[in-house]
Amino acid sequence: MSEHFRVHGGARLVGEVDVVGAKNSVLKLMAAALLAEGTTTLTNCPDILDVPLMADALRSLGCEVELEGDVARITTPAELSYHADSEAMGKLRASICVLGPLVGRCKRAVVALPGGDAIGSRPLDMHQSGLEKLGAKTWIEHGCIVAEAEGLHGAQIWLDFPSMGATENILMAAVLANGTTVIDNAAREPEIVDLCLMLTQMGARIEGAGTSTLTVHGVKELQPTEHRVIGDRIVGATWGFAAAMTRGDVRVRGVNPHHLDLVLEKLRMAGAEVTVYEGEDEGFRVVMDGRPKAVDFVTLPYPGFATDNQPFAIALSAVAEGTSMITENLFEARFRFIDEMIRLGADARTDGHHAVIRGVEQLSSAPVWASDIRAGAGLVLAGLCADGATEVYEIFHIERGYPGFVENLRKLGADVERVSS
Ligand code: UD1
Repeated sequence: MSEHFRVHGGARLVGEVDVVGAKNSVLKLMAAALLAEGTTTLTNCPDILDVPLMADALRSLGCEVELEGDVARITTPAELSYHADSEAMGKLRASICVLGPLVGRCKRAVVALPGGDAIGSRPLDMHQSGLEKLGAKTWIEHGCIVAEAEGLHGAQIWLDFPSMGATENILMAAVLANGTTVIDNAAREPEIVDLCLMLTQMGARIEGAGTSTLTVHGVKELQPTEHRVIGDRIVGATWGFAAAMTRGDVRVRGVNPHHLDLVLEKLRMAGAEVTVYEGEDEGFRVVMDGRPKAVDFVTLPYPGFATDNQPFAIALSAVAEGTSMITENLFEARFRFIDEMIRLGADARTDGHHAVIRGVEQLSSAPVWASDIRAGAGLVLAGLCADGATEVYEIFHIERGYPGFVENLRKLGADVERVSS
């Protein structure tokens, strides 16, 4: 028996919603705990399936992991296993983030390659070439990526593209390397800054967090620490778009509003009144009167518009007044989401990296299938603007990224239920 969401369109979302720690941060921070012997504590962890999966993956490497509410306690032993090819590892899309810490700590790693993803191909060439510059040999064998090094040394590394995953792995290997590493064209996402902050608290010497050039002076060893995971800016954006699309009034807490500067600017351009609350977790409020206006979106690495928010941009454009152009520069297959939107009555066409969407007054309910976390959330947002009941299937994708999604939607006044099918 599986479950799906039934979304009855028409409600205006009104109220307050709390955002917890970022999925794209917590998994990397849990991996970073491998770098120091002893107990590392993470707070503000989101209640999503990937966290216990990562806990199992770390246990398979010899750690003890205790999850209690929003707290994760990870005790890392002096001797770690470097075989990250267990069943738990295989189930985890973000498994690749243990590669850098294991190479840093054990000088070798065997990591199960992450499973295929519906958003498109996810090559690892930059992870490999970065680790090779640090002195490791890497190759693919029996479905795993293998890395081995006599010892790691500092290096000058230029990334072809500011990849989050490659930046994280190279950074986590470089903190324990001998000498200084410079990563140029590094990713600048807030989750990278969060990781740099935690590594620095552990004793790493990193300069340039949040800029394109990260300089890492290697140290002999790191100490465990306690760290609070940053709020999830993608979940925050989801609520902002939901408010704008349903002509609602939503106050979002638990996220740094400046991590969403461009998102909030786009919502303003669409006609929303946006209030920003200064302070780390104070969030923002989006109020929309009337139909949103069409806006163009281009996905780019941070501080550009995040590819993870692209499905919400498409959903908004589908009901906006006018024509929008959406350009996807990171994951080509993300446009598959548009076929599901067309089932809901969206007037949309794609051509290569571009989608043109002519907004319609109202979408029309239909059964639709989520293909990844954000596409799934985007379909629910679209369902909120459709007549009748939209059935959204394959909701396990959505629940990988949104703790208490249905509960939060209902709290804001949406008519959404979980149905067994
Ligand atoms: C992370 C996020 C994901 C987000 C993405 C881009 C996690 C768990 N996932 O994924 O939600 O959509 O960043 O912001 O944090 N690339 C290569 N070679 C490589 C590595 C990447 O060509 O070695 C390409 C990718 O195909 C993609 C681009 O670089 O086109 C960016 O990918 P990257 O930033 O690495 O994404 P992830 O870290 O996998």
